[in-house]
Amino acid sequence: MTHIAVLGYGTVGSGVVEVLNTNRGSISLRGAGDISVKYILDVRDFSDSEYASLFVNDFSVIENDPDVRVVVETIGGSGVALEFTRRALAAGKSVVTSNKEIVAEYGDELLRTAGEKNLNYLFEASVGGGIPIIRPISQCLAANEIDEIYGILNGTTNYILTRMIKAGLSLDDALREAKELGYAEQNPAADVEGHDACRKICILSSLAFGKHIYPRQVPTEGILNVTLDDVQYAKSAGRCIKLLGRASRLPGGKVCAYVGPHLVSASNPIANVEDVFNGIVVKGNAIGEVMFYGRGAGKLPTASAVVADVIDAIKHISSRKLLSWDSADEALVGDSGCLESSYYIRCENGIDAAKEIFGGVQQLSRADAGENEHAFITSPMNLYELKKRVEQLKHSALVLSLMRTLD
Ligand code: HSE
Repeated sequence: MTHIAVLGYGTVGSGVVEVLNTNRGSISLRGAGDISVKYILDVRDFSDSEYASLFVNDFSVIENDPDVRVVVETIGGSGVALEFTRRALAAGKSVVTSNKEIVAEYGDELLRTAGEKNLNYLFEASVGGGIPIIRPISQCLAANEIDEIYGILNGTTNYILTRMIKAGLSLDDALREAKELGYAEQNPAADVEGHDACRKICILSSLAFGKHIYPRQVPTEGILNVTLDDVQYAKSAGRCIKLLGRASRLPGGKVCAYVGPHLVSASNPIANVEDVFNGIVVKGNAIGEVMFYGRGAGKLPTASAVVADVIDAIKHISSRKLLSWDSADEALVGDSGCLESSYYIRCENGIDAAKEIFGGVQQLSRADAGENEHAFITSPMNLYELKKRVEQLKHSALVLSLMRTLD
């Protein structure tokens, strides 16, 4: 019997306790023996809960109990969650988390501490919810040079965009639904402004490229500027709008990452990843292209990944898993502006000027477009070339939207 503690009894934490209890029989057959939740830490009152006797609100009870071998951190944020993670590792307990904010900012430090103490710090649930992606990149694809990773990393924004595309809902109404369904972060700004996807692409690229890549090194744009007009224009071109996180190896060996909305071609499998689902494509020099798909948010899918890590941490209680990356190296990180893309532009007036400045464009149409409204897709170019031409276009047009495309 191995004792664990769960920090935070919110959506994910309560899901972890539920999965451990519901699947107790099958989990014990996975090689970790019986797992018992000895404590649940939460400052809120859960005296009505069937687990009321397990609740504590003082972390030192857990920290000082040698029976507790694994601590599950599902508090979120980087306040007490970071403090308790550090203290748990210092007290000789492995830590399992779904907290992408902490992994993206402090993964380097926490992995090093865990390594020095022969403990595990595992975070499968931090990216892609229930989708296995951390282990596949660090283990199953370990033979590859990873050239590129891109994907839909945020379930909330994918849900919102899907509802805009399929039901013509406004962004605000779709966000309200996502909150009601429990997909959005406590502060949904992290979802809609792209920070959540940014943290996730940082974690994936740190794993894939071997050095810590921080959110501050990743240009990030969310979905707040996406309108129903853009959605309709994209549809007319056989595309749909998706918020993508993308990390690429640049010619010369540097790597770059960014987050932003894209007009994705219907022929790309990512275009069919809808609702709260995530889809992640990994390109390796031996495997070619692989895609991971599944529920990227929600109580039980995320708990599924957390509990798998708990099982793994217990199975490797006295041997560290080879999950690690090195400290950041500023020289590794290149400029995502150098990546070439075709761009979607929506503007008022100036279509003749646009054709001249961009040397021919693919014009798009939509029902009920205003008389002077135009939208088009350019030929591929890097961001600096694009910005130069957009500045020229602004002499004749009011530029309303600008997004990368992905074929
Ligand atoms: N808010 C996140 C999302 C939760 O929507 O993807 C899972 O990380």
